[in-house]
Amino acid sequence: FASRDGPKPLAGRHALVTSGPTHEPIDPVRYIANRSSGKQGHAVAAALADLGARVTLVSGPVTLPDPAGVRVVKVETARQMLDACAAALPADIFVAAAAVADWRVAAEAGQKLKKDGSGPPTLVMAENPDILASLSIPGPQRPGLVVGFAAETNDVLAYARAKLARKGCDWIVANDVSPATGTFGGDRNSVHLIRLHGDPQSWPDLPKAEVGRRLAAAIADHFASGKS
Ligand code: CTP
Ligand code: CA
Repeated sequence: FASRDGPKPLAGRHALVTSGPTHEPIDPVRYIANRSSGKQGHAVAAALADLGARVTLVSGPVTLPDPAGVRVVKVETARQMLDACAAALPADIFVAAAAVADWRVAAEAGQKLKKDGSGPPTLVMAENPDILASLSIPGPQRPGLVVGFAAETNDVLAYARAKLARKGCDWIVANDVSPATGTFGGDRNSVHLIRLHGDPQSWPDLPKAEVGRRLAAAIADHFASGKS
């Protein structure tokens, strides 16, 4: 990393980042999960740390190494991720890059579900808390800059703008996850940065590490311009 010894415009700032999937248990051996490697969220955390931020990375189950110089809190479920984020506040910056499972099984079975001849089980689902929307609620604990991700497959910009408004965040990184882009699990990403104020920026087909660096640089610019 060339920037490791470079300028530290985010020194003194605390950045909270979520990354990876969540796992929602069905029983002791099975779970529901989203498709996410954590590569993009971890890259954002690493890039924010390179710019001098104190970084707390709340990560679901991933196979990646912990980024250097970052405090990593490991969780499994969406509810644990929300609790870990709430415990890490206050923060100046919140970046929600995790692929949080929208639903969980309402009542996790205490024992392994068995094929007992009566047919497949019916799973009753409950909605998980929305971590991004929760941390976007105005108040003294709200991070000064809240950035969400939106994985979309068609009409990427329109869906992302709607999501920005619905979640109450400041920026959305709209991620084109159409199968042709090979985003999931891959090392590259095609994104648009959409801000409440300002024109969208398109960053097509970049290494995820570079997307992380550009996002961290945009965040540093935001604070440098006194909009904190
Ligand atoms: N997110 C979150 N908590 C959730 C769901 C999503 O923090 N329970 C965050 C993600 O980390 C991401 C953003 O919200 O930054 C958008 O996630 P996405 O799944 O695209 O949005 P949803 O509101 O869940 O809408 P959809 O129906 O498209 O899945
Ligand atoms: Ca979702």
